[in-house]
Amino acid sequence: MSTAAPTMSSTTTSPADVRPSGPAPTSGSTAPTRLLSAASREIVAATASVVAEHAEAITAVFYPKMFAENPDLLRVFNQGNQATGEQSRALAASVVAYAVHLLDPQAPSFDHVMRRIAYKHCSLGIRPEQYTIVGRNLLAAVAEVLGDAVTPAVAAAWEEVYWLFGAQLIAEEARIYAEAGVDPATPLRPYRLVRRIEETADVVSLVLEPADGEPVPATVPGQYVSVFVDLAGGRRQARQYTVSSTALGTRLQITVRRVRGVNGAPDGEVSSFLHDGLAVDDLVEVSAPAGDFVVQPSDTPLLLASAGAGITTVLPIVENIARTQPERTVIVAHADRTAQDHALRETVQHVGRQLDDFTSYTWYETVAPDDRRSRPGYMDLSEIALPDDVQVFTCGPLPFMRHVRTSLVARGVPADRIRYEVFGPDLWAAQIPS
Ligand SMILES: Cc1cc2nc3c(=O)[nH]c(=O)nc-3n(C[C@H](O)[C@H](O)[C@H](O)COP(=O)(O)OP(=O)(O)OC[C@H]3O[C@@H](n4cnc5c(N)ncnc54)[C@H](O)[C@@H]3O)c2cc1C
Ligand code: HEM
Repeated sequence: MSTAAPTMSSTTTSPADVRPSGPAPTSGSTAPTRLLSAASREIVAATASVVAEHAEAITAVFYPKMFAENPDLLRVFNQGNQATGEQSRALAASVVAYAVHLLDPQAPSFDHVMRRIAYKHCSLGIRPEQYTIVGRNLLAAVAEVLGDAVTPAVAAAWEEVYWLFGAQLIAEEARIYAEAGVDPATPLRPYRLVRRIEETADVVSLVLEPADGEPVPATVPGQYVSVFVDLAGGRRQARQYTVSSTALGTRLQITVRRVRGVNGAPDGEVSSFLHDGLAVDDLVEVSAPAGDFVVQPSDTPLLLASAGAGITTVLPIVENIARTQPERTVIVAHADRTAQDHALRETVQHVGRQLDDFTSYTWYETVAPDDRRSRPGYMDLSEIALPDDVQVFTCGPLPFMRHVRTSLVARGVPADRIRYEVFGPDLWAAQIPS
């Protein structure tokens, strides 16, 4: 590889400015710093800010290029996220953040980020050989957007970054596939819809049974599955849905909120299909459970703070605690528009009553006059008592989770005790501070 000086430079953004603000670091570190060659380190340090500034332009070129060459990938990538640009932002931000991570020996562990991407990839059946396709198109897009600035040395340095990232992801994905006993060549199983439970006007629970006669896979509460559906016109799309109950033995339940388009945007494709187009006895294809938004067995009290569809993570966790550690303290706090929109409310309450120490709080934007228990407005955690060593799991829209985190940190809850699940791809674009 040439060691020629890079030709790109910038004065507006330093590499440190583009550091991801993901979740709190977990213990240990992937520590790949020493893996990047000295020549590439220098070049990446000098060019990271320019790549960061152009990251979205690069991914805007990358995806159409890749889909034109590989139309099959349109079925694997979420076309809603393509339309809104969320996936482009997530990919761009992750590559730049990884580069910054490589350069900074003090950088917090990247393990959590790596695991999140790897789990998402596994739920979609991503295979090692596809990294060549993505890498080729991504690096071609970098060259196209940055033009002459991309000397052979610059291209080689960024190729090295890409493959360091890719190799770590491939290894993590191999581990996840092996642990789940999944052959990446056949990552999906057919499931039959056996029951629909209309939870609220906009939320339905779908109870699914394996159609291949094999048992349901083990699910750690808080994990999700990717559900693949065949849409009109031969189109196929996948979305992720939390396994909303793990208490069904031979069945698997997901709970889907219908996404309505606002300001002229179309209604959500897959959630609308699951609400309107999937009848009892129909088949869908489902991945193995994935994700690391999971509660570990411990004596620590838990606060589960959710809003809207985020309630789907709460029920399986409460069910699991009731089954395995009924003495553990659990506080659930949920925010919704109204009590009528609050899905799974009765079920969570019912299971919560099996715990020794269970408290629940609700906030509704509109509280019915006869509802004396719920609080009006947005969730305000300063109103509730919390144990000192509380561990927090939060899931809901990003502004909600930011608010939860800020108010808890202000109360002295250490940031590393707050875990969150984003129901979309923009972990980094989200700018949730660590
Ligand atoms: C880990 C994880 C767990 C999840 N768990 C759950 C769960 O338990 N329950 C649940 O209900 N959801 C869950 N989700 C969210 C779910 O995966 C889907 O994102 C959600 O159902 C919306 O999918 P959709 O196909 O209906 O919407 P999409 O078609 O993907 O649309 C998404 C948004 O993009 C907008 N959009 C689409 N096309 C355009 C366009 N051309 N121009 C402008 N805007 C556009 C739509 O209006 C909509 O607001 C989870 C997500 C993740 C990542
Ligand atoms: C080093 C290489 C790669 C990086 C850095 C990367 C990064 C990412 C990131 C950051 C996300 C969003 C994760 C989340 O927060 O949910 C993602 C999702 C995804 N990735 Fe990758 N990825 C890489 C390689 C690949 C490859 C080889 C494929 C195969 C075609 C692929 C397909 C996907 C798909 C389909 C999604 C979900 C998209 C969506 O839901 O909109 N990725 N990836």
